[in-house]
Amino acid sequence: MPPHRPLLSLLLLLAAAVAPTWSKSTLESCSSSTACPAQLSYTLYADLKLAELAALFSADPLAILAANSIDFAVPDPADRILPAGLTLRVPVPCACSDGIRRVTSVRYVSRPGDTLASVASSVYGGLTTPDWISDSNGILDAKPEAVVDAGTTLFVPLHCACFGGVDNGLPAVYLTYVAGKGDTVAAVAQRYRTTATDLMSVNDMATADLAAGDIIVVPLPACRSSFPAFTADYGLAVANGTYAVTANRCVQCSCGPGNLDLFCVPAPLADSTCSSMQCANSSMMLGNFTLLMTSSGCSVTSCSYGGFVNGTILTTLTTALKPQCPAPHQYPPLIPPPTSSFFETYLGPSPTPMASEGGVDPMMVGMAPTSTPSASSGPPPAARYVVGDALGALALCLVANLLW
Ligand SMILES: *[C@@H]1O[C@H](CO)[C@@H](O)[C@H](O)[C@H]1NC(C)=O
Ligand SMILES: *[C@@H]1O[C@H](CO)[C@@H](O)[C@H](O)[C@H]1NC(C)=O
Ligand SMILES: *[C@@H]1O[C@H](CO)[C@@H](O)[C@H](O)[C@H]1NC(C)=O
Ligand SMILES: *[C@@H]1O[C@H](CO)[C@@H](O)[C@H](O)[C@H]1NC(C)=O
Repeated sequence: MPPHRPLLSLLLLLAAAVAPTWSKSTLESCSSSTACPAQLSYTLYADLKLAELAALFSADPLAILAANSIDFAVPDPADRILPAGLTLRVPVPCACSDGIRRVTSVRYVSRPGDTLASVASSVYGGLTTPDWISDSNGILDAKPEAVVDAGTTLFVPLHCACFGGVDNGLPAVYLTYVAGKGDTVAAVAQRYRTTATDLMSVNDMATADLAAGDIIVVPLPACRSSFPAFTADYGLAVANGTYAVTANRCVQCSCGPGNLDLFCVPAPLADSTCSSMQCANSSMMLGNFTLLMTSSGCSVTSCSYGGFVNGTILTTLTTALKPQCPAPHQYPPLIPPPTSSFFETYLGPSPTPMASEGGVDPMMVGMAPTSTPSASSGPPPAARYVVGDALGALALCLVANLLW
């Protein structure tokens, strides 16, 4: 809980007078300094180039496309203009902040007319609060509506969560979601194909009340890697139906739709700067497999990705005996970069996803690695609790279109 301050109380009163809703957020107690993979649900406040969006979150533009199953092999992806109102998942590293909450910290260079409130509620879509930003920057007694000098570099803390990468004993990536006007727990659950019960339990909600500005986390079923701890992409987890690019953009990994085994192949943009993706003592490349019918079943030999170390792509060749030969690998469908905010990603009812294209050859044969991470071996989920968070309501009242 933030320390009680008279100024805060006053502002809270003011906020309550303007809009009688207090936003709340799900906090995750934590101690480890190791960041874990998380995602933020973010709605664009203006038309933004993908590169601008990526800069807001210090994220790789390709990683954002991949996390949304948007074709990341299109030419000049970073120059694509994405429409205001579009909601995307942004993958972020999620670190421990102060023992009671997790955070991903980004830098924001303020523009003319920015206020703490507009940065929190508009630019960052309510994923942070004005007072959290002022605390993080040592700004004393700042009113949310105070104008920030243009060109100031602000450290902006954003809520995120990991909960051990597990939900109900199964691998999961946690998506931080800011409730919009009229959102209900049931609607959010349906949108992300989970249940209201699970959402309420994950967020430790006593009632299904959800107010605009409340921050909840949504567990997304995911494929989890089992790379060794010394790899740069240790802990990589990919939500069902989506992709990730890793190993310096040399490798792409996908999850689903058929099973939750991480499946990695050379990325469409992989070039000669990438280290070898061939399995040692074999002619097989990442993602290749061979099948051999024997009297005791189907012997499956596969070349799979084992993590990225010092510029080197680790590969492992494994052979497993299966009762039946697996069907050709299916990739999650990719959609073209959206040009309208009415677009919903693969999670929405429309449009019909296009067939895979641009380097993801649907005919490419492959099979997921046979090792399934043991769901019970991870750290136990941390305690979950919800506390009132100040000023979000006030922030929400301020609409800023800034320069756009
Ligand atoms: C993964 O997604 C596919 C469709 O995209 C769905 O059919 C399947 O049930 C999902 N798996 C899990 C475990 O949620
Ligand atoms: C590859 O073959 C060489 C020589 O045949 C052997 O020394 C090495 O251990 C093999 N590597 C792997 C990963 O099997
Ligand atoms: C092996 O993998 C490479 C890279 O993904 C692919 O281009 C090739 O077609 C695959 N070969 C077979 C036989 O599946
Ligand atoms: C990476 O390279 C550095 C310097 O070459 C070395 O000290 C380090 O042990 C290497 N890390 C791993 C995991 O091999």
